Amino acid sequence: MVKKIVITGAGGILGKACITSFQKKGHQIVAILSPGKKLSYTTISPVSVYNADLMDESNTQEVMDQVIKDHQTIDTALLLVGGFAMGTINNTDGTLIKKMISLNFETAYYSARVLFNQMAKQKDGGKIVFVGSRPSLDAKAGKGVLAYALSKTLVFKLAEILNEEGKEKNIVSSVFVPSIIDTPDNRKAMPKTNTDLWVKPEDIAEIMEFATSEKGMALREPVIKVYGKS
Ligand SMILES: NC(=O)c1ccc[n+]([C@@H]2O[C@H](COP(=O)([O-])OP(=O)(O)OC[C@H]3O[C@@H](n4cnc5c(N)ncnc54)[C@H](OP(=O)(O)O)[C@@H]3O)[C@@H](O)[C@H]2O)c1
Repeated sequence: MVKKIVITGAGGILGKACITSFQKKGHQIVAILSPGKKLSYTTISPVSVYNADLMDESNTQEVMDQVIKDHQTIDTALLLVGGFAMGTINNTDGTLIKKMISLNFETAYYSARVLFNQMAKQKDGGKIVFVGSRPSLDAKAGKGVLAYALSKTLVFKLAEILNEEGKEKNIVSSVFVPSIIDTPDNRKAMPKTNTDLWVKPEDIAEIMEFATSEKGMALREPVIKVYGKS
């Protein structure tokens, strides 16, 4: 069955891999990019592109409403927007905490809120995929990335609660938890690390495709660790 897939953060590294994976299976992609951005790479088939500042609740509502009006149903939402910051408690002030919460949690929350409400009206419900982080599950990994870890922790709780709310409506929310993704930025930041240990964006994308497909129907409340070899 051809599905309509909304992907936020579609201009990012994981976004690109997800567009490829889902298009290979014949699905239709609705890509949400940050304001003023265009898709900077070629895709297998055409993509429906929208721009929104997903940290802004009213802009998110407005753009997602337009997406729903244009596409009628949304089967799957991959909410990929997020970002990273270093910092121990000593150098993590309120500004950084708020910035990380806005980027990692509010972007996911505002998008999920509109799309969950839409999926609740659909006979077949829908699937929502969030991206968490390892430091939110493992305090040892969270030591030097306090604001990042805290902000992603909210995403896990949001998915849990949405799974309770979505039970009767056939809406399943999952959280994917990558370790370090093999991206150009990470390669630049950690030039001496063995990148074979890192998880490839294409592998995460394929597992997301499987988890949201008919074959993944039996999954309930999934928290999927995609740590590669690290
Ligand atoms: N990279 C890793 O090692 C790693 C590890 C664990 C978890 N993750 C998580 O995995 C997800 C994807 O990571 P990635 O490496 O693909 O990140 P990425 O390449 O930085 O992509 C993130 C995308 O989000 C977009 N974005 C940022 N702020 C936005 C806003 N306010 N409104 C709309 N779009 C916005 C960015 O667009 P612009 O560039 O145009 O701003 C960018 O295209 C994130 O949630 C990240 O936290 C990554």
